Amino acid sequence: MLTGTTMLRAMKAPARAVAPDFAALRAREFGRLDDGGHAYLDYTGSALYPDRLVAAHASALRASVLGNPHSESPTSLASTALVNEARARVLRFFDADPEEYVVCFTPNTTGAIQLVASAYAFGPDAPLILAADNHNSVNGMRAYAERAGARVHHLPLDDQLRLHDVASELTVLRGTHVGAGLVAFPAQSNFSGVRHPLALVDKARALGYTVLLDAAAYVPTSPLSLRHARADFVACSFYKMFGYPTGVGALIARREALARLRRPWFSGGTVEYVSVQSRSHLLRDGAEGFEDGTVNFLALGAVIDGFDFLDEIGMSNVRRHVGALTDALVEGLRSLTHRDGSPLVRVYGPRDRYDCGGTVAFNVLERRGDVVPYDEIEARARAAGISVRGGCFCNPGASEAAFEFVADRAARCIAETTRAGWSVRDFARRMKSCGGAEAVGAVRASVGVATNESDIARLLQMLARLGSE
Ligand SMILES: Cc1ncc(COP(=O)(O)O)c(C=O)c1O
Repeated sequence: MLTGTTMLRAMKAPARAVAPDFAALRAREFGRLDDGGHAYLDYTGSALYPDRLVAAHASALRASVLGNPHSESPTSLASTALVNEARARVLRFFDADPEEYVVCFTPNTTGAIQLVASAYAFGPDAPLILAADNHNSVNGMRAYAERAGARVHHLPLDDQLRLHDVASELTVLRGTHVGAGLVAFPAQSNFSGVRHPLALVDKARALGYTVLLDAAAYVPTSPLSLRHARADFVACSFYKMFGYPTGVGALIARREALARLRRPWFSGGTVEYVSVQSRSHLLRDGAEGFEDGTVNFLALGAVIDGFDFLDEIGMSNVRRHVGALTDALVEGLRSLTHRDGSPLVRVYGPRDRYDCGGTVAFNVLERRGDVVPYDEIEARARAAGISVRGGCFCNPGASEAAFEFVADRAARCIAETTRAGWSVRDFARRMKSCGGAEAVGAVRASVGVATNESDIARLLQMLARLGSE
């Protein structure tokens, strides 16, 4: 009998990567980009899958008989073996000690975060501390915290969109409550690309906090070692790392921190037993107590192969490749001008770009310096076959800091717009006229494994044409 793993092992990558030829890799694995005339610059939205990942997965599935893992049949046991192999592969990629960490499979990063948010013992003496630069899937934790009567604090950003003097801020906060609390921050901003200091993990844990690290935007292009950054919880989505499969992510959890969570419910797959008569149930230990229903077991073979793909290239090589392209992109954007020499583009985030990943948020400026609405630039890009993202990227804190919103004026504009029936355009108009904001959204370009110089050049040329109109 062929199981999924039998087929998938045939694809295992060599242990260590020499610097790869990224041009050959693009031609071999991502030929559909050039065939379709695409300049894909939305890696922070999703990575692209290499051809071989879907081809190998299709042939593995065609040769396997995999049953629901919640059983003891041969096909079920084959799936269980695949799930366990995938758990081990995730731990290996994240350099996590299996004695210390477990992997819970989730639908995505958001699902991983919600597992923690819904089960953490927030309370009047156990606050939630959020970076101002969080994705909404982390911001949403505040709904659970507030419902439990917990205070919610935000660690502010400075004018470079970096976390501001965060160590002393945390120390001061720690003096204001007796019990422990939860600190949640992104390893990399999905707005500005800033890589926030991983040293914050140790700092917060040393103060007694539980730490949730949102690694969704960081791990697609940077290695992360959980022996060095020993976060209690790490959340990620695999499609952001290697493009396929969608619908699978993970909560990588320290065993001890996971054991402290109290699940608000149980479901199929998470229990040893449930008694209807006695109204009792016993949750399963470890990861399985947090995997509601049936995990996406058919997809996990592709997750293993996806990690092999990244390991074969080498995460340090990915980081260097992405770093060089991002430097070229930022330099190109900053050098664009109108015919009269006035700047054409405003790039948000650090001027020095030190410790930043491959995500760049910017706006196009009119000659007088007014911001061109981001959706006009998005439309131009669309017409030119360039995929970028427009808006606030589900990161309102970074947006508010970047566009210098004044809190009470912005709150007034939000209230007025909500009363009138919410529309982004109306909100933008109000923010401009009485909110004092130069913009309410931006364009985001982000690069990854398959990006090349010509993708960057196409975006820069498209923008340069605006300057000469
Ligand atoms: C930093 C960050 N966190 C969380 C998420 C949410 O990821 P998902 O939609 O896969 O749950 C994203 C998605 O872009 C992100 O960039």
